[in-house]
Amino acid sequence: MAMARSVALVLLAAFVAIVHHAASVAHAAAAAAPATDAAGFLHCLAVHLPPGIVYLHASQSYTSILESSIRNLLFVTPTTPTPLAIVAATNASHVQAAVRCGARHDVRVRPRSGGHDYEGLSYRTLGAACPFAVVDLAALRAIRVDVRREIAWVGSGATLGELYYAIAKQSARLGFPGGVCPTVGIGGHLSGGGFGLMLRKHGLAADHVIDAVIVDAKGRLLDRVAMGEDLFWAIRGSGGGSFGIVLSWKLLLVRVPTTVTVFTIHRPRNQSATALLTKWQRVAPALPRDVILRVVLQNLDAQFESLYLGTCSGLVATMAERFPELGVKRKDCIEMTWIQSALYFAFYGTGKPMELLLDRGTKPDRYFKAKSDYVSEPIPSHVWESTWSWFLRDGAGLLILDPYGGRMGSVAPSATPFPHRQELYNLQYYGFWFENGTEASEKHMGWIRGLHREMEPYVSKNPRGAYVNYRDLDLGVNGDDEDHGGVSSYEKARTWGHTYFKANFERLAAVKAMVDPDDFFRNEQSIPPLPSSRNGSSHS
Ligand code: FDA
Repeated sequence: MAMARSVALVLLAAFVAIVHHAASVAHAAAAAAPATDAAGFLHCLAVHLPPGIVYLHASQSYTSILESSIRNLLFVTPTTPTPLAIVAATNASHVQAAVRCGARHDVRVRPRSGGHDYEGLSYRTLGAACPFAVVDLAALRAIRVDVRREIAWVGSGATLGELYYAIAKQSARLGFPGGVCPTVGIGGHLSGGGFGLMLRKHGLAADHVIDAVIVDAKGRLLDRVAMGEDLFWAIRGSGGGSFGIVLSWKLLLVRVPTTVTVFTIHRPRNQSATALLTKWQRVAPALPRDVILRVVLQNLDAQFESLYLGTCSGLVATMAERFPELGVKRKDCIEMTWIQSALYFAFYGTGKPMELLLDRGTKPDRYFKAKSDYVSEPIPSHVWESTWSWFLRDGAGLLILDPYGGRMGSVAPSATPFPHRQELYNLQYYGFWFENGTEASEKHMGWIRGLHREMEPYVSKNPRGAYVNYRDLDLGVNGDDEDHGGVSSYEKARTWGHTYFKANFERLAAVKAMVDPDDFFRNEQSIPPLPSSRNGSSHS
């Protein structure tokens, strides 16, 4: 016993020495945030958490832990502000302790599940003057599938691939309507809505959340009953990092047929791609719910990709009736199981082992930037025709067109924070590159921003919409907000808030004022508290 205590004291002393070094660095940087007590925070972590799960700058594995789930090389630079500490939580009490230490010492913590945030908001800040910590949830990724009740409990740190794999291991009849990329984290994905190739049949991933466990700004562990319906509404689509740290989610699984069908068809520009694309805008959102037909535009090519929840003959017949111009033939179709279709769309091929879905990804290998739009009315053919020239430019990226309709259109825009239910389709501008340096990034970002600007007359208006899971800081950011006592400005956030959430933004801000009036969970695009609600909240 005495031995154990002396080992603990030695560890604490070593920790405190590191703490003082890190704190002096942080203090120098923290001039704009005088309330932050970095040293006190790190000391608090040292007292309340086992040393093996807390990584400081001086820790040998700090960099490898930090980069373990970063996807975007844009945010792995010598000047990117890095966290004061990374808490690699292995149970709920670690998350609670990190939040309580943060709240007590005014050091904000950012949750990270899969690290796929397009702007890196789960592990970096824009303001170098604001020390912060990361609570990494990668180890909290238990998945429990109950086939009989058709539900699953999933830890936020699990990936989509791990969830799909766990379901398929237990049943060929069940699936989950989440996104396409298997390395995306459950925590961020469900927080921002989440859609994939079953969206027309089943809606958003977040529509299937029936319970959740969250650590709130006071460090309390709350389930759906304890958090109440307002907060439960807010965490299913507002984008992560605003209301607390969700540890796990209870999901309603969906039934899938034993055979599904896929195809990928290329139609070059000089083979009627413009006419097909123009017609696609009316056809795809109105197809039966069992089928999705999305388009990827790259170079001078339109790639039509389809998933049909049924056999090849059904898909060919549907296409022949609704979209004969596309010319889908039996030989274009491949029948497979639903889980094989998840592999097919993630890795573009057949015959891949299911275990690929368990690969959480390696070090980041590319730079990328994305923007998004919603299209409410079909874009005229002449606009598409002139858009092709963009794909001939240096630095060209791609456009991904995901049709809505079906179940998406039958859910009320206020049912969850995600308001874009009635749109024809989501348009994503995506650029990636491998060269380092500002010249390369300016070229590729210039392409994305330029095309986004050019499309303005043809996409949704008042407000022009965007999807929060395709995070885009060009839309605006919360500032340091000294003027607001460290609380983000509602007025300032309205610009991007309405873009992502339309009329739901005000309700989100009201919930924020109720559950986190001091704005502890804050990032560059987190939901700010609604001022009138904040003044009237019981929190002092
Ligand atoms: P990350 O861990 O970076 O978190 C994202 C945000 O949520 C951050 O603000 C973070 O602080 C917060 N957060 C994370 N965990 C939280 C938790 N447990 N509680 C509260 N807040 C939390 N989207 C889509 O709808 N369909 C798709 O097919 C794809 N495909 C896709 C492919 C690729 C390659 C990328 C990089 C991204 C996508 N996305 C997508 C977008 C993706 O859904 C979005 O980036 C998610 O927020 C990523 O979730 P992670 O947990 O991986 O991110």
